[in-house]
Amino acid sequence: MKSMSFSNKFFVNPVRLLAPMEGLTDPLMRQILTQIASDLGRPYDWSVSEFIRITQHVLPAHVFYKYVPELNDDAKTASGTPIHVQLLGSEAQLMAENATYAAELGAPAIDINFGCPAKTVNSHRGGSVLLDEPETMYQIISAVRQAVPAHIPVSAKIRLGYTDTSQMDDIRGAIVASGADWLTIHARTKTQGYKPPAYWDKIQSFNALDIPVIANGEIWTAAQANDCMTQAGTPHLMLGRGAVTRPDLVAQVDNDTENSTDSVENTATLLWQDLIAHQIRFLEGAAKNDVVLVGRYKQWLGMLTKGYAEAQIVWEGIKREKNKAVIISALQASVQE
Ligand SMILES: Cc1cc2nc3c(=O)[nH]c(=O)nc-3n(C[C@H](O)[C@H](O)[C@H](O)COP(=O)(O)O)c2cc1C
Repeated sequence: MKSMSFSNKFFVNPVRLLAPMEGLTDPLMRQILTQIASDLGRPYDWSVSEFIRITQHVLPAHVFYKYVPELNDDAKTASGTPIHVQLLGSEAQLMAENATYAAELGAPAIDINFGCPAKTVNSHRGGSVLLDEPETMYQIISAVRQAVPAHIPVSAKIRLGYTDTSQMDDIRGAIVASGADWLTIHARTKTQGYKPPAYWDKIQSFNALDIPVIANGEIWTAAQANDCMTQAGTPHLMLGRGAVTRPDLVAQVDNDTENSTDSVENTATLLWQDLIAHQIRFLEGAAKNDVVLVGRYKQWLGMLTKGYAEAQIVWEGIKREKNKAVIISALQASVQE
């Protein structure tokens, strides 16, 4: 059976995935975070690209390469982590044609986005709004599954519903009938946005499907990861904002046999001083221009303040700074203090 062979190949052990996050886990951030995970001895099994929106035609190659430059390198980051290509759209045939092209360009797997809450996306019948149309979900996934070569997995990423969970049975039915090879579930509805809590227990019912289920949402600590796995009844996890806030979270999850329940006592596998070089690498990375890069770095630093006390001090010093070189010096100084 097709799904079983993918299970054997991709899910031999519990998988740990870095979440697709548009404007956050872009190619540069993916490089950095997958490198850190590898260095810590717990590489991500794979990550998923930011969504590529499919509206009218088959996108030209340069668009795929822009979103997923890793396609030039065997679809892997420098540390060897595979990047799956995520598509978002509502026209089954068009999605299938784009997926086929992405596969030709070297996508190791195709993921389909049914979770995006953005108004512009939803108003064009893409992303989470399709959770209210399980039949359309079925058509999209099955068209993509039939179109791409059998050795390329096709997965779906969903939320629990659009405004509520009343469609969950039909969504489950659509997924199973579509031939999706696995399923990632962000355990909130679209209406619940990104606010805690995530309803990990609601993932349970999807385990009845004959495909691997990956749990996602509101995992910031190893203890929460363990709670999530227990409540969701699956060993497979996708880490989102928590992985940006604590880039060592992925390593801590598999280290945390003690299961400390105190979220503040997050064992520091990666110390601030060891994170400095990665932040500098980020600031020296490729971007449209320095303004964009500095803005993006500040976004990251803002998130790091939730994971590292030292980040708060650097933040206070550079929050109005625009010059990249000055920020790099401030970072270097933060270890010498
Ligand atoms: C800034 C941002 C951008 C996101 N972009 C995407 C995306 O492109 N594709 C997708 O499937 N999910 C996207 N998500 C959802 C995440 O993949 C994930 O499901 C969600 O953040 C819940 O996980 P978390 O609570 O661990 O962050 C995004 C989330 C955030 C915060």
